[in-house]
Formats: sequence, structure tokens, C-alpha cells
Amino acid sequence: MDNRPIGFFDSGLGGLTCIPFLHEKLPNEKIVYYGDTARTPYGSKSIENIKQFSTQIVEYLVSHDVKLIVIACNTVSATSIDLLKEKFPEVPIIGIIEPMAKKIADIGKNTDKFGVIGTKVTINSGVYEQKVKKYNENISINSLACPALVPLIEEGITNNEIMDLTIKYYIDDFKKKKCINKLVLGCTHYPIIQKNIERLYPDMELLNPSEEVINSVSNILEEKGMLAESNDRRNLCYASDLSENFLNMINLFFDKESVDTDIMKFYD
Ligand code: DGL
Repeated sequence: MDNRPIGFFDSGLGGLTCIPFLHEKLPNEKIVYYGDTARTPYGSKSIENIKQFSTQIVEYLVSHDVKLIVIACNTVSATSIDLLKEKFPEVPIIGIIEPMAKKIADIGKNTDKFGVIGTKVTINSGVYEQKVKKYNENISINSLACPALVPLIEEGITNNEIMDLTIKYYIDDFKKKKCINKLVLGCTHYPIIQKNIERLYPDMELLNPSEEVINSVSNILEEKGMLAESNDRRNLCYASDLSENFLNMINLFFDKESVDTDIMKFYD
């Protein structure tokens, strides 16, 4: 048993899409979340900056005595996981891509046409293709960067025509040309627009890495005997900028009494 919190982080509010799955699967676990809302999006930044920002965040989460850290960001997982594991060997660190890649390798059939959408950095890294191939050589994935989606989601522009047009701008041709029948939401912001994508493409199955990573967290904590027991610790959610939309998301995913929110910046 281990009642210490689990650390989660993302460039912004996207990583919070893991929380409903955490609450469902592991209701006793408490978290410390960091969203780098002042420096989002990471997906169009240099790898050098992403490594620097994510190192600052992991150092901060480690200072909260977390028992495990989830990189709830595909962009950081794609570029910085090896560095972070090397710099912080004292805490298990799980990236969001590996569990999804294993799942694709397990469920994939020869007739499937997988697609993955994500940030420029994630897609340019080719990490989904490489990791899936490692587990199952017969499956290939087509990838597409959708850089305008994250800024719109961070602005809360989701349930409207602008978002639908932006989704169609990216996905219409991709889906048609590559005959995609299963689409991986390869950015933790995208589950927020999952309903839009489902409505626009009802024949395409969507796969959500935020759900897979929680299954993986559950297995690891159980194996290590580190599951929490019921406790009245509060969840802590930090952001480098407490934007209105970040706070809206916190209110959506947590009861008011169970969470404290604060601002935390690593620069002046
Ligand atoms: N939510 C993040 C991801 O999963 C990053 C989005 C961004 O900051 O560009 O890749």
C-alpha cells in the first residue's frame, strides 16, 4: 500500500483527459498535476526546449514525493522519456505512447488501416510507427500532424463550426486516401473533441491513449504493491498560468472539495 500521490503532467490541460479513467479504475489514488499552460503548445517547439521544460516539471513533481509519474503528453513522451528516466531514476516514469502501441499491436488485424493524429513534434518523431512495429511487424500506421487543434482546444473553441471545419480540413483527405478505419488520438488534448470526430466520421473507431496509460498505471501499482487505500488527501493541480479554460477543466473532472489549484512558474 502506498498513499503517496501520482504525478501527471502535460503542456497544458490535455493531460487531464486521463483523470476520468483514473477515477473509474483507481478511485483511491490522488494526484499532483502540472499543466504548463503559459508555454503551451509544446508540439511546435524545439526538442531542446521540450526537454528543458519537462525536466523542470518532473523535478517539481518529484519534490512532491510522488510515487510514480505519468507523462500525460505524447509530445514529451515522444522526445524526452529516455532523458527523464535517466535524470530521475528514483521514481518510475511512464510515457503515454508505449501502452497504446502495445494495445494496437495486440488488437490490430491485417485488414485494419490505423491512423494516428498528433502534434508536429510527435508525428515527425515517427514514434508510434516504431513502437508498434517493435511489438507487431505486420501492422503499419499512417500519421498526420494537426497543429491547429491544440490552440483551439486550449482556447475552449470546441463545440462549434470552427472546430468541425478544422477537423475536416485535416482528416477528410487523410481518411479517404489512406482508408483509415481506426484512429489513434495521439495528443492528450484530442479526447476533448472526441465527440466531434465521432459525429463527423461515425464509421471510424477512435483509440484513446489516456485510457490505455491508466490501465498500465493500474498494472504497475498492483504488481509493486503500491496501490493507495482510501484516504482524504487532496488532489493538487498546478499550472504556469491559471487560464479560465484550465480551471473549467479542473471543475469538470474533480469535485470542488477534493482539489486545490495553484499557480507555479519556473521562470520570472
Ligand atoms: N497534449 C500534448 C500531447 O499529447 C501536447 C500538445 C501541445 O502542447 O502541442 O502531445
